[in-house]
Amino acid sequence: MSHNLLKGKKGIIFGALDEKSIAWKTALRCVEQGAEIVLTNAPIALRMGEINKLAEQCKAPVIPADVTNMDDLKNLFTKSMEHFGGQVDFVLHSVGMSLNVRKGKRYTDLDYDFFHKTLDISALSLHRVLQTAFGLNAISEWGSVVALTYIAAQRVFPDYNDMADAKSLLESITRSFGYQYGIKNKVRINTVSQSPTRTTAGSGVKGFDGFISYAEKMSPLGNASGEQCADYCVTLFSDLTKMVTMQNLFHDGGFSFTGVSAAVVEQMEK
Ligand code: NAI
Repeated sequence: MSHNLLKGKKGIIFGALDEKSIAWKTALRCVEQGAEIVLTNAPIALRMGEINKLAEQCKAPVIPADVTNMDDLKNLFTKSMEHFGGQVDFVLHSVGMSLNVRKGKRYTDLDYDFFHKTLDISALSLHRVLQTAFGLNAISEWGSVVALTYIAAQRVFPDYNDMADAKSLLESITRSFGYQYGIKNKVRINTVSQSPTRTTAGSGVKGFDGFISYAEKMSPLGNASGEQCADYCVTLFSDLTKMVTMQNLFHDGGFSFTGVSAAVVEQMEK
């Protein structure tokens, strides 16, 4: 299914950990559609070595970068521009992590060092990436940046914990930086709010199985898969969506605008 939607475009993909990762699937789709890419992840995640398989398939270099480290990010953009011989056209931010979630801390008993880390890794990191690119003039005119988010930014999903606050901040940075980068260089910045998806980050949330089947029942189209999310990201990186910026775009089979579904009512009547 190649339409060469990204022919000639060059992009950086953050966050491909293993085959389940949304970033992994997006990297494959981008290359299928004609893009050249650079892959990046935290040095500790690269030690698993999984990413080398993807790098081979995509003929992409892997440049380590911890998203909380400005030197790493500067090095990433500088090396990527050297590799491409010019600016980058798109960036996927597919990064999230909460130690409070991992360690089973309740929202009413958070560890604040962990909370700072959640915000830094999962939200401020988008600002760090954008500020680095802005300073280096690393993203081309009409370039496109997409970050992944979840509807817990708007509605309460208790077990999503401090990640909900991080996603609210991520979406706010998308608007605020989207304004600045739009004015400066016509760069667009959006978040895609994805259905629950079975990945390493996703499965860390308590009660994830219940969560995923509830969302499936509540969504007229069912849950959106990781592959479908990758397809949506490709359209946002393409020239077909040039005037879309500063938006939070739901990619969730209709979940976000459904009050209740017949399937859920039926379940409640049992
Ligand atoms: P994943 O676990 O495959 O990806 C998370 C990535 O973040 C990993 O590659 C990890 O190495 C990277 N990361 C963590 N700390 C980092 C650091 N300090 N520096 C650089 N990279 C770091 O899981 P998934 O689900 O593909 O997550 C991607 C994005 O999608 C996240 O933002 C997540 O919140 C979001 N999302 C996921 C949903 C799901 O149900 N899986 C639903 C909605 C959004």
